[in-house]
Amino acid sequence: MKSSMQSTGGADRHAEVAYEQIAPVYDEFTAHHNYPQWIDALLGLGAAHGLRGDTVLDVGCGTGKGFMPLVDLGWKVTAVDISPSMVELARAKAGPAVRIEVADMRELPRYGSFDLVVCLDDAINYLHTAAELERALRRMAANLAPHGLLIFDSNTLTTYRTFFGERVVVEAGGRRMIWNGRTGGHAEPGQISEAAFEVEPLMPGAGPRVPPEVHRQRHHPEAELREAVAAAGLEVLDLYGCTTDGVPRQPVNEDTHTKSIYVTRLRRVT
Ligand SMILES: C[S@@+](CC[C@H](N)C(=O)[O-])C[C@H]1O[C@@H](n2cnc3c(N)ncnc32)[C@H](O)[C@@H]1O
Repeated sequence: MKSSMQSTGGADRHAEVAYEQIAPVYDEFTAHHNYPQWIDALLGLGAAHGLRGDTVLDVGCGTGKGFMPLVDLGWKVTAVDISPSMVELARAKAGPAVRIEVADMRELPRYGSFDLVVCLDDAINYLHTAAELERALRRMAANLAPHGLLIFDSNTLTTYRTFFGERVVVEAGGRRMIWNGRTGGHAEPGQISEAAFEVEPLMPGAGPRVPPEVHRQRHHPEAELREAVAAAGLEVLDLYGCTTDGVPRQPVNEDTHTKSIYVTRLRRVT
């Protein structure tokens, strides 16, 4: 992996396009995710590594499913996402107490000096190059207080061999939401995997038909993530795996866990 910086001018905007399409039904499609439980577990990991304070920046916040439990726990939340429609939904959910901006993590502004920065639920898998990954992590690092922690997850090979190879149909709110994974159950380290998401209304007034829009994610091998973390001036404190129950376990296993979870901080010079 090269660690040289590249401009993201002309950057791939596929994630923004995909999330503009999925936004109106995102919460329904992901209703089975237990965020309060997952956030609680992640805060536990943070606490084990000295997490303190009450300010958090949620990068790639989507509709706010990750930050709402933090708001409920008294955290002062700032959040960003590349998709204006996801941001609009997050704002409606959170109200004025939470600052939520449209921003690309590859060009993330500095919003402050946060005790905690999170980037959750495979947001970084929408970055496809080493340079993008490093740049995004560097921008997250720039938002950390000296004692702060950055916690992010990345999908494992298991996710690309299962969810990205499956057809998943969810019916809710008078709509049929269809996820068509395209990997055929095969994924190699570093591979870019695709799935198409579409929506069919099942009754009048259930919203428009949404034609298939492709989600394109890269599997980031652990060695490459560690290299990007180091190149961004961070250090990995701990690494966990989890399955859909969200419970962090060690050691991470790409063949059984669906996500890996990285707990990082600004690199300390000793
Ligand atoms: C699977 S959703 C997860 C949303 C939220 N973190 C959660 O846990 O519910 C991934 C999010 O990452 C956002 N995203 C993808 N690429 C991004 C980028 N370059 N900058 C900011 N957000 C991005 C998408 O718009 C989407 O909302």
